[in-house]
Amino acid sequence: MNQLTTDRLLRASVATSIDAIICTDERRKITFFNHGAEAMFGYSAEEMMGKPLDVLIPHRFQAAHREHVEKFGASRQATRLMGERREVSGLRKDGTEFPAAASIAQVTLDGEHAYSVVLRDVTEQHRFEQENSELVRELRAAVVARDDMLGIVSHDLRNPVNAVKMLAAAIVRAGETASLPPVVAEHAGVLLQAARQMDALIQDLLDVSRLESGRMTMAPRPVAMTELVATATSLLAPAAEEAGVRLTSSVSGSLPQVDVDPDRMVQALSNLVSNAVKYTPSGGRVDVNAQVDGDIVRVSVEDTGVGIPEAELHRVFDRFWQSRRTNRSGAGLGLTIVRGIVRAHGGRIWIESRPGEGTKVHFSVPRAARADA
Ligand SMILES: Nc1ncnc2c1ncn2[C@@H]1O[C@H](COP(=O)(O)OP(=O)(O)O)[C@@H](O)[C@H]1O
Ligand SMILES: [Mg+2]
Repeated sequence: MNQLTTDRLLRASVATSIDAIICTDERRKITFFNHGAEAMFGYSAEEMMGKPLDVLIPHRFQAAHREHVEKFGASRQATRLMGERREVSGLRKDGTEFPAAASIAQVTLDGEHAYSVVLRDVTEQHRFEQENSELVRELRAAVVARDDMLGIVSHDLRNPVNAVKMLAAAIVRAGETASLPPVVAEHAGVLLQAARQMDALIQDLLDVSRLESGRMTMAPRPVAMTELVATATSLLAPAAEEAGVRLTSSVSGSLPQVDVDPDRMVQALSNLVSNAVKYTPSGGRVDVNAQVDGDIVRVSVEDTGVGIPEAELHRVFDRFWQSRRTNRSGAGLGLTIVRGIVRAHGGRIWIESRPGEGTKVHFSVPRAARADA
């Protein structure tokens, strides 16, 4: 392609560009105004020839703009690219203003300065950005409202559910000494069981909302992890036995103490052991292991259960998430709470799993200062 062809092509591109391309002489008089500029500003090229550039700039920006261009002229920079400098405002023939991204170039020939400016109307982009940030703000507000609502509802449900639980328990106890109609004794037992489930769910909802808002208080003190593991496994021993799952712990007695809130740590451990038991078929095994590693103690709960597909692993800690493959008997809050508790202690939690082979959840917590150990 020879130089003449290239020049013509360039000229044609400039003429047809949808960006506005405008050239001025040293005194800011317009010498070129392409189709893009005509469309953007509403003036014809004819009427703009020789007019001052200021016609296209809102009055309040004219002085600043002039200064800007003079500085640019004094510099030896040949071009200043779009986005590299702050946005400008354009003024249309009909008096409306619009935001534009601008790049300018300059040449000096025979001691005379000339400028070209390429402008892109960014009105749409602005509208889009603004709509997006409004959406984000609305979404955040909706999430906060939902969490507040969850907190309030669970809090207010607690008392009535507790009343049902206590009265049902009282009837069950009465049935042990006095003779009640069998149907009453039986129904009271079912009521008690249902009220306990509701209570546990409410407790989980409250814990999640407290953990996420940072309102859950932790009272860490030096305690023996061995004892916490023993407490959690004995809590789950009946469920394991009923499920035909062998539950063991391999925690050495010489394990150093850890710096944790004992109640919260037992809650975390029992959630993990309960999952392991729940998702392991009869005949399987669950083992709780703990080891010291420098300043931390690493705990793992391992099972030989159904496992979790790799594609779903990253979701297990999300609240309310449950695999479609497992029966959804809980609320999907357990692992969210465990992670919250571990993190509140400055620890980490992670999970490994192979479908059909089993799952291993690991977490770490800080060991107690050696002087206390
Ligand atoms: N040990 C495990 N083996 C297999 N799947 C598990 C295990 N632990 C958790 N999961 C999966 O992760 C989901 C979320 O667990 P969790 O947060 O404790 O909720 P929930 O137990 O109430 O369903 C479970 O529904 C299950 O699909
Ligand atoms: Mg669970």
